[in-house]
Amino acid sequence: MKAIVTKQYGTADVLQLEEIEKPTIGSDELLIQVMNSSVNPIDWRVRSGEMKIMTGIMKPPQVLGTDFAGVVSEVGQSITRFKKGDQVYGAVNGMKGGAYAEYLKVKEIDAALKPDNISFEQAASLPLVSLTAYQAIVHIGQAKSGNHILINGCTGGVGSAGVQIAKALGCTVTGVCSTKNVEFAKSLGANHVIDYKKDNVLENKHSYDVIFDTVGNHSFSEFQKTLKAGGICVTSSPTMPAMILALILNPFRSEKSKVIMVSSNSQDLDAVGKMIQEEKLKPQIAEVFPLAQIKDAHALSEKGRVVGKIVIKIQ
Ligand SMILES: NC(=O)c1ccc[n+]([C@@H]2O[C@H](COP(=O)([O-])OP(=O)(O)OC[C@H]3O[C@@H](n4cnc5c(N)ncnc54)[C@H](OP(=O)(O)O)[C@@H]3O)[C@@H](O)[C@H]2O)c1
Repeated sequence: MKAIVTKQYGTADVLQLEEIEKPTIGSDELLIQVMNSSVNPIDWRVRSGEMKIMTGIMKPPQVLGTDFAGVVSEVGQSITRFKKGDQVYGAVNGMKGGAYAEYLKVKEIDAALKPDNISFEQAASLPLVSLTAYQAIVHIGQAKSGNHILINGCTGGVGSAGVQIAKALGCTVTGVCSTKNVEFAKSLGANHVIDYKKDNVLENKHSYDVIFDTVGNHSFSEFQKTLKAGGICVTSSPTMPAMILALILNPFRSEKSKVIMVSSNSQDLDAVGKMIQEEKLKPQIAEVFPLAQIKDAHALSEKGRVVGKIVIKIQ
């Protein structure tokens, strides 16, 4: 099968299109024929070696890639939820990867049936970012209808999913983005938008029940001033060691600092799928690259200015 193979850590130049063996599955696994994947920051963070303590000191996983959308091609004997031919989507552990390839083996928990109102291309843009936003806002932030939530970095992959999920829950949403993305943030459903090029988010007059920070450019002690008593600040981009100190101090104050570490969860994927089916959560695709142009796709994502998601076309 064709796959993007990574033999060493480094720049996007280490990504090479090659022919490799198709994976073989165990009894608790599915083999997916991958139609589309997408680029997430975890993919190029692993590739660069930034996370080599967790991914292997000497060399990265052979094939990177976290998100997938495709068709079930083989089913392990102990699998009950899926059958051959099902159209599925999901995310594997980004530290292990595997989705930049024509075939990918996954566990049952990594996958859900693809909502039938979106294409494979659209489906591949959603799993990791929407799971991250859903788990951060619903499970960790405990946001409820009527809450006011601030989303820092509201136009990237995670932030754009976050705005829509928070709106679907019935929250009032304030999004933070740069001038060029203000209209896009409003189109996602943000009730208020703070343009960080013109205004300081830390000096605005509102206070929030929940803050979801997808950028990591402010410490918890800075955000704490804009949290209501008992409010929760969840970040997907913790900066050490300030974050460790913030977590240690949690028991001694009413406002809490939390970190989201996204995990595969087919129930959460089904909850997100319901929002997609009801058109409360819509795919936001920035650009589609063929698999052979993965280097350009990674380079674009690494600039950190992407609006929505970069999708990879595999089949
Ligand atoms: N912990 C986890 O489990 C987990 C899971 C998924 C992702 N993440 C992390 O979450 C972060 C976001 O991921 P992503 O996929 O959304 O990345 P992305 O799509 O590349 O998002 C980039 C966005 O960040 C915005 N941005 C940059 N500087 C900003 C600032 N100073 N203020 C507000 N917005 C700013 C940009 O908007 P402008 O151009 O308008 O500035 C851009 O839209 C990454 O660091 C990723 O590694 C963590």
